[in-house]
Amino acid sequence: MRLILLGPPGAGKGTQAQRLIHKHGIVQLSTGEMLRAAVAAGTPVGLKAKDIMASGALVPDEVVVGIIADRIEEPDAKKGFILDGFPRTVPQAQALDDLLKRKHLKLDAVVELRVNESALLERVETRVAQMRERGEEVRIDDTPEVLSKRLANYRAQTEPLVHYYSEKRKLITVDGMMTIEQVTVAINRVLSALEAADSAAKAAK
Ligand code: AP5
Repeated sequence: MRLILLGPPGAGKGTQAQRLIHKHGIVQLSTGEMLRAAVAAGTPVGLKAKDIMASGALVPDEVVVGIIADRIEEPDAKKGFILDGFPRTVPQAQALDDLLKRKHLKLDAVVELRVNESALLERVETRVAQMRERGEEVRIDDTPEVLSKRLANYRAQTEPLVHYYSEKRKLITVDGMMTIEQVTVAINRVLSALEAADSAAKAAK
């Protein structure tokens, strides 16, 4: 299974990806996590991404496309993956299409999590408070100012992907305002229906 989780900052992409990978035996490919690891390790990619991420802007397309192209080649991604935070621009989506086509792989679905803006702000505030309580380092881009830039960038650069994948009949929109468990149930219901339709189509051949 190959899925994309699409949604604004704080929509629950990482939360849902973690829950889905266990059930479906696939891996989570989070460009945000990979970039934060690269920043922490001080790699060339990390050095390039650090200030961009801190400002709430997007890292250049060629950098993230390169990261995903390499990661998809790794053995643990062969059974399937959930892309969390990628693609985030139309050129990234086109690059992913090319990549999958070259490898004769099919994208099963793009799950868009819809959450209203005030809930997003509250969720990120809660995440910051919880990380502080646990004594963890808070994300540098989780301040109210940077979060509003991340949201504005989402609306301008990533939201066009809703139309992009809707045209390709890959888009499934899920109400992300429900509880975490209810969102997982809703996504799994959709995935089961897709699997059933896929099996029926294969059986009919
Ligand atoms: P990234 O790490 O991808 O951050 P993001 O998209 O802004 O998303 P978040 O991690 O903030 O939120 P999420 O949707 O995963 O929500 P979560 O599950 O954590 O990207 C960071 C930066 O890296 C970007 O700004 C950019 O600079 C760069 N970058 C990354 N990918 C890139 C790309 N492809 N191209 C260019 N640049 C890129 O949930 C949030 C909180 O809400 C948690 O506390 C959770 O417990 C809670 N929560 C979740 N679901 C619910 C629910 N249903 N009800 C109540 N609470 C909930």
